[in-house]
Amino acid sequence: MKKTIAIVLAAGLGTRMNSDLPKVLHKVGARSILSRIVDSLKEAGIEDILIVVGFGAEAVKKEFSGQARFVHQVELLGSGDALKAAAGEIEASGAEKVVVACGDTPLISSATYRELRDMSEASGASCAVLTAEVGDPTGYGRIVRNGTGHVVRIVEEKDAGPAEKDIKEINSGTYCFGVEDLLRFIGEIKRNEKKKEFYLTDIVDILVSKGRKVVAGTCTEREIAGVNSRKDIAAVNKVINDKKINELMASGVTITDPGTTSIDETAVIGRDTVIYPNTVIEKDVRIGGRCSIGPFARLRPGTDVSDNVEIGNFVEICRTSIASGTKVKHHTYLGDTRVGSDVNIGAGTITANYDGGKKNITEIGDGAFIGVGAILIAPVKVGAGSIVGAGSVVTKGRNVAPGETVAGVPARKLKTEKGA
Ligand code: UD1
Ligand code: CA
Repeated sequence: MKKTIAIVLAAGLGTRMNSDLPKVLHKVGARSILSRIVDSLKEAGIEDILIVVGFGAEAVKKEFSGQARFVHQVELLGSGDALKAAAGEIEASGAEKVVVACGDTPLISSATYRELRDMSEASGASCAVLTAEVGDPTGYGRIVRNGTGHVVRIVEEKDAGPAEKDIKEINSGTYCFGVEDLLRFIGEIKRNEKKKEFYLTDIVDILVSKGRKVVAGTCTEREIAGVNSRKDIAAVNKVINDKKINELMASGVTITDPGTTSIDETAVIGRDTVIYPNTVIEKDVRIGGRCSIGPFARLRPGTDVSDNVEIGNFVEICRTSIASGTKVKHHTYLGDTRVGSDVNIGAGTITANYDGGKKNITEIGDGAFIGVGAILIAPVKVGAGSIVGAGSVVTKGRNVAPGETVAGVPARKLKTEKGA
């Protein structure tokens, strides 16, 4: 493989986002748009990544320091100008190929970046552009091909005539160029009269007019989606969520109402678990097999649930492990808690894990029974087989012995069940 550098164009204002945060730092799923792109490029085997920064440069540099290099685009004069800002670094890198990625297309996969790069090398083309056929091309640059099917030009929506507007093949904004030809001709891009910007897309026309070869690689309509607005963020989130839910269903998880269920890509869920409507499963959550989750449950990061566990409605769980056979069925919050097996957590139980300064741990042993409305003020330990009466407040530092029964406010020992 010829030495390759990747340039991510991420300096734009993101005007249509109406945001103080640079567009590329907005999250889709649990990760920023830009981190998805950087990760995919790395997975594609491209280690040297240069991000063109402008609007919100400091915030972008902070998030990606150590993962990429940066170059500043001084005035935001369009995608052509952004790539020109990186020309010196491209030359200095000694790379023969340069993959140019748009900073706002988060769904392009590592396989697609790799295929585009390989196509560029195999075809010997000066430019391989990534395109897709879509149902609604509105807003995207259209790919113009000649009578023999060769790509000759990219025309932006604003400059397209009626016939060009009908073209359904769109530009992803992702390209792989031969470095030599890119550096030779990038200076020939002229400022677009209507938008007063330098369009990178004009490079295609220029290369073709110089007798250079331009080829197109294709990806799916789903992958090519660009994020320009909050509406696009919602659309991309839906793509990511649907993909995860379909994978889980194929692997043996029942999801009764995918339309109201949100599951982060990182979640791991075992066979024959059933997820009921309006459930939110966030990042780094693991759920075993044969569990019942929801409706209206929220499992936050660091939740680790074993097999045969029931988690019911209006239950929130965070940084908590739950062993097999345990039931947490109604209106409960468990945070920073280790729950044993076959425990019953009564309705309305709350672990008070935060004391205003730090988060503290609650431990609940195997077979314990926590009555309805109990409050466990962490740090606290409730031993195996013990009983906490309904409405009790088990105070900070209390150590309920195995088999002990406690009740009241504050909770006091009633009797010892075993070995008394
Ligand atoms: C661009 C393409 C269009 C393509 C679409 C795909 C051009 C002229 N048009 O349009 O053909 O269909 O992407 O999503 O390239 N940027 C800079 N500096 C600038 C301007 C933009 O770094 O001065 C960056 C932005 O941060 C963004 C990317 O370039 O990540 C694309 O810019 P954007 O304004 O979103 O272009 P589109 O109009 O979507
Ligand atoms: Ca865009």
